[in-house]
Amino acid sequence: MATEHDINKLAALFAGARRITCLSGAGMSTESGIPDYRSSKGLYNTLTSEQVFDIARFRRKPELFYSVIGPLYLSILKAQPNAGHVALAQLADRFGKELVIATQNIDGLHQKAGSRVVHEVHGTMDTLSCQDCGSQALAKSFLNELGKGEVLRHRCGGVFKPDITFFGEQLPAAAFSASLDAMADADLVLVLGTSLQVYPAASLPDARRDGCPLLIVNRTPTAMDDKADMVFHDSIGELLPQVLAQMDHGAQPGSQRGQ
Ligand code: OAD
Repeated sequence: MATEHDINKLAALFAGARRITCLSGAGMSTESGIPDYRSSKGLYNTLTSEQVFDIARFRRKPELFYSVIGPLYLSILKAQPNAGHVALAQLADRFGKELVIATQNIDGLHQKAGSRVVHEVHGTMDTLSCQDCGSQALAKSFLNELGKGEVLRHRCGGVFKPDITFFGEQLPAAAFSASLDAMADADLVLVLGTSLQVYPAASLPDARRDGCPLLIVNRTPTAMDDKADMVFHDSIGELLPQVLAQMDHGAQPGSQRGQ
């Protein structure tokens, strides 16, 4: 658990950075009620296996994907940002940081919280593409069908695939290369709520320049803990608001805290 001293140090670290780049993962959204993948209550240990997200299987049997994922898809579309998403957005809005978020999440919650520069390296659940004719549609037009776990189809008869990256598909190239650039430009890199087990996304923090501090906040140890300057095995939605509150406090005229 972060101590008061840690919070002061983090507030000073954030305050001193102009360009902050963040890599977020599923742990960012668990406090919004969306399960992550690899925790004991994560998707890969409860609902299903990674094979549901395999592109070859989806093409062969889309009904398997929609019956298993449909109701969860619906709850993701309805989910709201939590205190962690809001705190990140405030770093840009209230504290004037140039914040870039590279997210592995497909839930759109950073954008709902008000973050403006978000690169979705595993795509998004908000839109769907027809596998036959290529037409796009908004997933929110299919709330009833998703709730019932039905296969979504375009009027041409083709199956709609959500615009997320399935296993066996390439990552969206523009989002990935913009994320690499933002890592290389950063004065501070944050890794939030990801086990860092899925590549190439997990390699993004390695693109930071020499000397750029790396901060990891993840409830459980990650593959990169030993490379980080500071690691907290804490809840993002509890820790980040405390850091911002301390930044506010440190900004008060005459305050000595956070120095
Ligand atoms: P994981 O489930 O692998 O890791 C999420 C991490 O977040 C875990 O290590 C948790 O300990 C931590 N965590 C959970 N809630 C937290 C909280 N409130 N505060 C802090 N930490 C918390 O999820 P990802 O690393 O995002 O890819 O998974 C990467 C990719 O694997 C996903 O994008 C997805 C999946 O297969 C595709 O579908 C292509």
